[in-house]
Amino acid sequence: HLWGCSGGGAAQAWTYNYSTIPSRRWPEARQWCLQHFTDMVPIRNKEESDFINDLLPFNTRYYWIGIVKKDGEWIWQDTSEKVPKEAQNWAPEEPDNIADQNCVEIYIKREKDTAKWNNESCRKKKGTVCYATSCRQDSCSANADCVETIGNYTCQCHPGFLGSRCEEAITCKPLLDPEQGSYYCFNPYGSNRFNSSCRFHCELGFQLVGVPQLLCQASGHWNHPVPLCQVVQCNSLKAPPNAFMQFCSDPHGEFSFGSQCKSTCEEGFLLNGTADTECTSLGMWSADIPGCLGKVHLFISSVN
Ligand SMILES: *[C@@H]1O[C@H](CO)[C@@H](O)[C@H](O)[C@H]1NC(C)=O
Ligand SMILES: *[C@@H]1O[C@H](CO)[C@@H](O)[C@H](O)[C@H]1NC(C)=O
Ligand SMILES: *[C@@H]1O[C@H](CO)[C@@H](O)[C@H](O)[C@H]1NC(C)=O
Repeated sequence: HLWGCSGGGAAQAWTYNYSTIPSRRWPEARQWCLQHFTDMVPIRNKEESDFINDLLPFNTRYYWIGIVKKDGEWIWQDTSEKVPKEAQNWAPEEPDNIADQNCVEIYIKREKDTAKWNNESCRKKKGTVCYATSCRQDSCSANADCVETIGNYTCQCHPGFLGSRCEEAITCKPLLDPEQGSYYCFNPYGSNRFNSSCRFHCELGFQLVGVPQLLCQASGHWNHPVPLCQVVQCNSLKAPPNAFMQFCSDPHGEFSFGSQCKSTCEEGFLLNGTADTECTSLGMWSADIPGCLGKVHLFISSVN
């Protein structure tokens, strides 16, 4: 037997295999291919034809390929598809209409018409050339489709993945903690990777502005900008008649969550209510602003 891949320079050829001895009739050649490999080489395009012509040694009997005549049409035996005109690569004057010449050989390394086709009687004995598919269960990661190419395979990555086996999830830029807020992520493929989703929360007294949940997309970008945590606002306070409002302390801005104000009355007036009020996390003052009552009024009421 003569086997393919015996010499150097055949690094890519491990999915094709051939034998020249013994020569086989077409049906036996196909049987041998099906038994040991995937099928007979169908020759679907010029690329494959050139590849085979480079790979195989010259053999005076040439080689069978996986094309036969059925109901007057040339078909690929493995799929039963008709071979389209533009894919046919006949030598000049071929195919001839000689009865019984219903199988196809390829002229490998012939001086004239190399890699062209000739129809022959299927009972003639020729070399055999088979292929085996390259894709295996573990050729690519689970995030890819394995696609056969001439002599090898490639991993076609699903959206969101890259790398030779598509094993790596695309990354998005790391997120910054919003001020006065935090987030929690669910990371199916690692943090800040494809399909990571992060939910934002604001501290007490702050409200979220923007979209609360972000998703790392296949493009490597988050689907929304990081939201903001904005301080909760209370109504602005105005001093009532005859009162001052003094000593507002504003840790997060004027009249905002945490602001504390103290009222005092002008000389000659007395406070009626609570002096201190605070802006709560709900955006309401803890106490109404007090009034300032004149002393005369007070005096009269105390007489009663
Ligand atoms: C086949 O393709 C894979 C993935 O691209 C590569 O790692 C490997 O080296 C190739 N094999 C041959 C024999 O070229
Ligand atoms: C061809 O097939 C034979 C027998 O199965 C095997 O020993 C040889 O390694 C194969 N060659 C290639 C290139 O696959
Ligand atoms: C990514 O997440 C979406 C839902 O958000 C889901 O439908 C899809 O299957 C996920 N993709 C992968 C590869 O995990």
